[in-house]
Amino acid sequence: MSESFDLIVIGAGPGGYVCAIRAAQLGMKVACVEKRATLGGTCLNVGCIPSKALLHSSEHFEETKHKLADHGVMVEGVTYDLARMQARKGEVVSANVKGVEFLFKKNKVTWLKGAASIPAPGQVKVGETTYAAKNIVIATGSESMPLAGVEVDEKQIVTSTGALELEKVPGHLVVIGGGVIGLELGSVWRRLGAEVTVVEFLDRLVPSMDTELGKQFERVLAKQGIKFKLKSKVTSAQKADDGVTLTIEPAAGGAAETLKADVVLLAIGRRAFTEGLGLKEIGVAQDERGRVITDAHFATNIPGIYAIGDAIAGAMLAHKAEEEGVAAAEILAGQHGHVNYNAIPGVVYTWPEVASIGETEEQLKARGVAYNVGKFPFTANGRARAMGDVDGFVKILADKTTDRILGAHILGADAGTLIAEIAVAMEFGASAEDVARTSHAHPSLNEAVKEAALAVGGRALHI
Ligand code: FAD
Ligand code: NAI
Repeated sequence: MSESFDLIVIGAGPGGYVCAIRAAQLGMKVACVEKRATLGGTCLNVGCIPSKALLHSSEHFEETKHKLADHGVMVEGVTYDLARMQARKGEVVSANVKGVEFLFKKNKVTWLKGAASIPAPGQVKVGETTYAAKNIVIATGSESMPLAGVEVDEKQIVTSTGALELEKVPGHLVVIGGGVIGLELGSVWRRLGAEVTVVEFLDRLVPSMDTELGKQFERVLAKQGIKFKLKSKVTSAQKADDGVTLTIEPAAGGAAETLKADVVLLAIGRRAFTEGLGLKEIGVAQDERGRVITDAHFATNIPGIYAIGDAIAGAMLAHKAEEEGVAAAEILAGQHGHVNYNAIPGVVYTWPEVASIGETEEQLKARGVAYNVGKFPFTANGRARAMGDVDGFVKILADKTTDRILGAHILGADAGTLIAEIAVAMEFGASAEDVARTSHAHPSLNEAVKEAALAVGGRALHI
């Protein structure tokens, strides 16, 4: 047996690297195994960060070309340089992943390079070397979900990874799956000139979202030129030199039609990735979707083995993985780490953005909870008007009896930043009245949150 550690974390994504740093802060001797050439996992390398870099770049182009004239800023002959846009994205990723390497050095976390397996509880094997570990945290993340009949080659038929690397704007991009990846990356390529068609199995986009929000989101994206084929499923994809022919059927059955695409983005969800760890051999229990089963303290059924992030149940979000990483490290240090799953925001970084936290109206109705709704449109917000970004609204749901905030759903400019206020309010168990009585700077988009909170009590001031 080679060196021994208090904790070995497998996977250096937002769950794993944050867990390793927190454990080191708490005095543990920590190693983190990562098989990728760089740290940061899906999120920093091929997920959150590169997608946001391209979203920002393409939004700058869109704004300059189509929106600035409204403000009296006249720019002639606006073009873009895709190679530069992609190179910039690479620079952003590189700076971020190097940042994690710096943090590992600063916190004395050892990076074990290579693919890990767990030959036995208390042991982690990397290459030919086996290390001893008092505790092991599995943070191996997730991978794109495959679809029968649609074979990914990352050139003509791509996952998000290939869609972030395209060297040419496709004439027609067909996206399979109207979820977060499809709408964010569909927006990027639509802004750069692609015709974009989204094929979605269900009758609405981002189905986990509040229905009213989802419907308005669809209208806003349709106005931007994205086409939707809802209640439809792709049954096959035939590749040829000049593109891909998709066969599409109504989800409920019926006559098939074909759709020609230059590039197809398969984005129908992600699934837990635990391949090569040897979990079956040592008896770590997994559910029917391959996720590692854990208790409320991230412990698996095998003593000394824990799991966090996309590899376990729950929202597949970087900040959820990070919260779990911190909580798991604190629990291992004998503290009381805890994650409040009711207050984890979800954001779609399109323009306008969509942000959600807590329960939707549909969920509250299903649970039989009586609630009040406060809604405020951005058309009535002075700052949104000054910006020229008036699409969307803020909706706050509060318990009818106690006024405690149970959920909030925002479509609008900077919704992802606005939702943070509600996250803090919910962490503190705040009522809508608490938010309504808090002074919000004028003129700010945040005033729409205050007004929605006032509207819960039927007394919005500006509508
Ligand atoms: P991961 O980040 O997947 O990291 C797991 C790591 O483990 C990987 O680096 C992998 O190489 C490594 N690994 C796996 N097996 C082994 C092994 N046996 N040995 C060694 N190493 C191993 N979330 C957000 O919150 N906001 C966003 O804006 C956002 N945008 C996204 C955009 C895209 C295109 C995608 C695909 C995802 C996005 N996500 C976003 C989701 C987010 O990336 C994930 O929720 C997050 O990365 C999960 O973190 P994790 O640590 O659990 O796993
Ligand atoms: P998703 O779960 O968000 O959406 C998948 C969509 O595909 C759903 O609407 C589903 O109904 C649909 N679908 C499923 N099977 C289908 C089929 N056969 N044909 C047509 N449609 C089908 O998954 P997505 O977009 O792949 O993203 C994966 C994960 O990555 C998400 O869980 C998300 O949390 C995370 N992510 C988060 C981001 C963010 O926070 N901004 C950005 C990108 C990804």
